Amino acid sequence: VVLTVGGFAAYIAWSFAQSSIDTVGKVDFDRPLVIPPLAESTVDPSGVRTFDLTMQAGESDLGRGAPTPTWGFNGSFLGPTLRATRGEQVRVNVTSRLGETSTVHWHGMHLPASMDGGPRQPIQPGGRWSPHWTIDQPAATLWYHPHPHGETAKHVYRGLAGMFLLDDANDVALPKTYGVDDFPIMVQDKAFDGNQLDESHGLFQSTGILGDTVLVNGTPGAFLQATTERVRLRVLNGSNARVYRFHFDDNRRYAVVASDGGLLPRPVLTDELLLSPGERAEIVVDVRPGDRTVLQSAPPTGDGNRFTGGSDRLDILELRGATTLAPSPPLPSELAPAPDLADDVIGATRSISLSGTRTNFGKMDMGRVDIVSTLDTTESWTVTNADGQVHNFHIHDVQFQVIRYAGGPPPAVLAGWKDTVLIPNGASVELRMRFTDFADTQSPYMFHCHLLRHEDEGLMGQFVVARPGETADRIEVSDHAD
Ligand code: C2O
Ligand code: CU
Repeated sequence: VVLTVGGFAAYIAWSFAQSSIDTVGKVDFDRPLVIPPLAESTVDPSGVRTFDLTMQAGESDLGRGAPTPTWGFNGSFLGPTLRATRGEQVRVNVTSRLGETSTVHWHGMHLPASMDGGPRQPIQPGGRWSPHWTIDQPAATLWYHPHPHGETAKHVYRGLAGMFLLDDANDVALPKTYGVDDFPIMVQDKAFDGNQLDESHGLFQSTGILGDTVLVNGTPGAFLQATTERVRLRVLNGSNARVYRFHFDDNRRYAVVASDGGLLPRPVLTDELLLSPGERAEIVVDVRPGDRTVLQSAPPTGDGNRFTGGSDRLDILELRGATTLAPSPPLPSELAPAPDLADDVIGATRSISLSGTRTNFGKMDMGRVDIVSTLDTTESWTVTNADGQVHNFHIHDVQFQVIRYAGGPPPAVLAGWKDTVLIPNGASVELRMRFTDFADTQSPYMFHCHLLRHEDEGLMGQFVVARPGETADRIEVSDHAD
């Protein structure tokens, strides 16, 4: 793979370089896609919107003939979709009925570190945690999932994950009726041992679990019956380790309209899209009456190396068109302002390398702050995938702009706000971001690889946001439940 020929070429070359292993079993699409319910909420007289989430164990029908022991929020598997509007104050009462300490992290959310739900905000068995904050960022598809120190992979794999949708006043004409023409699509691959989720699958494989069964919103072999001319699919890669190359089996093109942090500047037409764990993309797909097409993860077409992470052909979801389709608005040509940090004065330049189970700062250490960022300053972080493995990079609290991608400008699908980015093998990416609002040198946020085994094993670090002139070399670790 030549990584010096420009970002887009490298991105495509990287996707083709993933080895072809095999085609994983044919899927009968015989179950209607489950749409997670919108979470109920109450709004008090002061305008605070409150949600209740209970983490619990249960059993789920995952198509194994016998029920599968699973975990979920307010149910046995996954969780309801939370939804709030920019400017609203929200509170989430999280109760744990699990037998293990966990946390709930709001992935992609701009909020104080003490509300973030990372490893520093443990919820004990039987415990309760009620973070609250004000939504202050553009409309976006975010998600929530546990983030306990060293145990994230297991808790997410058992089923704890849900979507968190944000709305704003930018009323762009896209399909927007939840469950009618606007659908959450949470994609997770699972390995089974009989009817049990196989948690030890791939134990000796550094990537982590790569399963051969794909669940969408917890549904195996799902079909989605479209009743409109266009559908908006809010695709979340909620898998532990797998990178998907989303593609329809009839090669149809679709429009990518949003990435992690919200709408792209303009739609990007494509027939394939890479999403690594934790990343989101909203796509708009044209539907024809009577349509049948299968959303797959396509294997590479070139020669492979022995690189794992997204190389199987996997059937994901069948999209069906009803015989008559209700009209949809035409796709707008402009969607949202582009990120604008490229010409900023840079207040700090940092280099982070990802290798094995550590960054250049070392393995994750709850007592060590790796980066002290300055409030209201634009920073440039260059992040390098320094070994032969699959890594991506996620930063809490902010959405960043990708400035350089593997030696070139970012591909168009990375031209919007992002919180997680796949880093090609051996390549670097330059990210720019501004930390605003929440200076607190005693309360770190996390940055890490979102392949959950890597994260758990130490490929994670902590940063704090300081006021100009403040330092922070020691932090209290007493809130750490180890
Ligand atoms: Cu989605 Cu630090 O996580
Ligand atoms: Cu990694």
